[in-house]
Amino acid sequence: MILLGLNIDHCATVRQARYRQADATTGGAVEPDPVTFALLGERAGADGITVHLREDRRHIQERDVWRLREGIATRLNLEMACTPAMTEFALKLKPDTVCLVPENRQEISTEGGLDVVGRRKPVRACVDAMNAAGIKTSLFIDPDEAQIELAAKLGAPLVELHTGAYANAYFGSRREREFQRLRLGCVRAHELGLTVNAGHGINYVNIAEVRTLPHLYELNIGHSIVSRALFTGVEEAVREMKARMVP
Ligand code: PXP
Repeated sequence: MILLGLNIDHCATVRQARYRQADATTGGAVEPDPVTFALLGERAGADGITVHLREDRRHIQERDVWRLREGIATRLNLEMACTPAMTEFALKLKPDTVCLVPENRQEISTEGGLDVVGRRKPVRACVDAMNAAGIKTSLFIDPDEAQIELAAKLGAPLVELHTGAYANAYFGSRREREFQRLRLGCVRAHELGLTVNAGHGINYVNIAEVRTLPHLYELNIGHSIVSRALFTGVEEAVREMKARMVP
């Protein structure tokens, strides 16, 4: 069984589109509430909740993360930039896992994988701090051998392989090549003893192929589920994705 990490960032994106100026505590009028989204998702079978607390706080706010920490029954996976300020925040919050991602202010959502090779020092510092605090670190990386091997050397127990290039190529000529890269990446990460997660751009169509990747532990899926939930409601959207994840 592959697990589903439900990424609820885009529920907060919709809230912020209207209530950017409002205090996130302004009564029930501030909608949609990402914590409610998370709780409904859990009720429908989500195995964990993922949020990205971005430096510019464009969607998820600190208060959301604290409410999730208190309120959810599954695991909390905090995506964050590899910075001293975010490391300090994570050590206070104590999520179940931290997923280190690259952050670029111009992007709409995370675009490329973290360059572990180029940012070895700060990544190691963050992984060491999390290991010492008993928080598991996942590194969100492209499915490239050098990145995977260094992730293992730095002592992170998990990697999340970036499926964005594959998802973008899905209807084009590079799809098979990108899928093969992911397949080899999963095999290599598993050989090195890493737990293998994947995410970005996974939807109700490409999941049929993504789920056949070897050694997958968890998929982090956000945009497609939040979008589907507009039509079907959260629980049906999560149930439908979970059903499609079963081989
Ligand atoms: N995994 C990571 C590390 C991400 O940053 C994101 C969102 O950008 C996702 C998974 C989910 O991607 P999507 O919203 O395309 O499902």
